[in-house]
Amino acid sequence: MRKISHSNEEVEEIKTYTNEVIKNRIGKYGAVYFPLEIQDNIDDILGNEVKKEILHDFFKALKKYKEFAEQLKGAKLNPSLTVLLYGPPGTGKTSLTRGFAKYYEIPICVVETDRLVSPLLGDTIKQIRNVVDLAAEIAKERGAFILFFDEIDSIGSERSNIHEVGEIKRAVISFLQAIDRINYQGVPLAIFGATNHQNQLDSAIWRRFTFHFSFDFPDFHIRKQIIESFLNKVENAKIGVDKSILVNLNDEYERLKAITISLESKLGHTITEFNDNILWNELNKKSKAMGLLELTIGYSGSDIERGTKVSLLKAIDSERLTYEHFYNSLKLVGGTAIHVERQDVLSNPSKSYTGSKRTENNNKRLFSPPEI
Ligand SMILES: Nc1ncnc2c1ncn2[C@@H]1O[C@H](COP(=O)(O)OP(=O)(O)O)[C@@H](O)[C@H]1O
Ligand SMILES: [Mg+2]
Repeated sequence: MRKISHSNEEVEEIKTYTNEVIKNRIGKYGAVYFPLEIQDNIDDILGNEVKKEILHDFFKALKKYKEFAEQLKGAKLNPSLTVLLYGPPGTGKTSLTRGFAKYYEIPICVVETDRLVSPLLGDTIKQIRNVVDLAAEIAKERGAFILFFDEIDSIGSERSNIHEVGEIKRAVISFLQAIDRINYQGVPLAIFGATNHQNQLDSAIWRRFTFHFSFDFPDFHIRKQIIESFLNKVENAKIGVDKSILVNLNDEYERLKAITISLESKLGHTITEFNDNILWNELNKKSKAMGLLELTIGYSGSDIERGTKVSLLKAIDSERLTYEHFYNSLKLVGGTAIHVERQDVLSNPSKSYTGSKRTENNNKRLFSPPEI
């Protein structure tokens, strides 16, 4: 930022980091989004209520970080504005963060971290330092900035391009040093990291983040809301949605809720749909056909979104979305759970997604019994 004095004592501030300069410079490292261009909304990512509450506090603190940091620095309580989001792909990590960026009017750069990592260690370290320093300069001038390292496990993981263990460690150390420097300077820069491979993330990186938020596949309560919200969007696009879809969805939901309550009071403990076959076995006794909630066990929000988009290819022609078509489209895209190794499953095979017998037949790989 430059200051130009005019003869009448007015001081005009010339910004170095205009939107265009930011796009050109930090855009080399990833996708830059300014609040007005962001399409994601916090409320569109359903569930995750506790995280949202904490993130609201976090972003409020970021907005008035200067006063905050001044006050706390003397007491050596300078809070580190770092958040790690982990969990399977398509569960809302990036969209939720962008939604917050929009709500709090803060520009964000989503860095594809593996692009920073080069087989030449010197280059990796330089790239990490450059992107963090640049983001810090932008944050200082613009009042706040978010640097989001997507797939942060590529720094310092065995999956990365760096092959030698000593070099991996040095890349990690240079990343940690960059974060420390920012924290120490009290710059209003929020650093986010996201990973689908939390078990491969270097533990030093893990520890350096102040907040850790776990994302997971939505349970049947949230899946119902997600399905409804996408159907709502279909209607907003002036495509008719057959009543039978919502009627069936509600029916299945009410049945699942009633079964859960009665099983829990009988067994004296809570049951979860992912770890207990029992819920689905009971449902199968009571209903002939598999419904949308049972079909979508192990689906991410993004899978349901993809399924809805696929269903539109046909519906746009007939201007109507039928139950059968919606169901088949969701079935066609499949759920992400079959592709990811869950850490808790690895450490405790009895915890794998067992789900319903019917879904097991539907998709052998997803619901095969635990292998011990
Ligand atoms: N909990 C959710 N509620 C509603 N939609 C969701 C949810 N999780 C994911 N989605 C949908 O999936 C899209 C992609 O999610 P994304 O943020 O890219 O996931 P991740 O970063 O975890 O891989 C979102 O934009 C949203 O449309
Ligand atoms: Mg993402």
